[in-house]
Amino acid sequence: MFSQEKYLRALLAKRLGKRPYYFESLDSTNSFIINKDWHEGAMALADIQTDGKGRSGKNWVTVPGNACFSFAVTDLDKNMLMPLNLLAGFAVTDVLRRFAPVSLKWPNDCVCGGKKICGILLETSFAGDRLEKLAVGIGINLYDRCVPKVAGIPVTSLETLGADPSGISREEIIADIITRFEELTELLKEGNIAIEETWRGYSANIGGEISVTLSGEKRIFREKGVTAEGALLALDKYGRETVINSGEIGYDFGR
Ligand code: BTN
Repeated sequence: MFSQEKYLRALLAKRLGKRPYYFESLDSTNSFIINKDWHEGAMALADIQTDGKGRSGKNWVTVPGNACFSFAVTDLDKNMLMPLNLLAGFAVTDVLRRFAPVSLKWPNDCVCGGKKICGILLETSFAGDRLEKLAVGIGINLYDRCVPKVAGIPVTSLETLGADPSGISREEIIADIITRFEELTELLKEGNIAIEETWRGYSANIGGEISVTLSGEKRIFREKGVTAEGALLALDKYGRETVINSGEIGYDFGR
């Protein structure tokens, strides 16, 4: 069940998420946005995704009852992509912090107590050099019964972390995340958000040891923060700064 009225009442965004689609079953809400309606305002939510997509080409298991949704964002510059990856995590974290003390593993895995509660995947399509379509896809585990079994990754849900199930509204959580994402995107466009500073309030690992897989090789770093562009800034075992860009990294969960 998904109440469009309740969702639209809660949505305070001016542009994003205004045109909701609800599916009991769909291949992937990200694919829907990229292939079917990538225009500003589109938002797709599915109870079941038969081909849900995760990062690094992995499958995302969708259990009915969770919040698995994607929305379209347009009018973007190509070099906003990396910061937007982080902003999506900030928006989710701001909303989920009403329920539990969640934080972020770079770039945007929302975690609590070393367990993953939400995954975010931004997918794009370019027209020549121009960023034409962007789908921001978010999957949040809401209830105990909906925690997927994922090999190698400890996972949790809002209810498992102690949230009262009767206070969890999928409609309001989705609406609030989109509203917050739009606010943060406006700040970014106006040059009014410093990603490096902001990250410090969200990171699960700042100053701590992180295990990073670079070109298939696992290495230990200390997280220093992020760059203004949103890349991970880490210190190697000799204290040398290393800038790690999206796509080169795989985290060990548990660290
Ligand atoms: C990750 O690997 O952590 C990212 C997972 C992103 C999953 C969401 S669920 C809604 C949207 N549709 C998809 O196919 N994937 C994203």
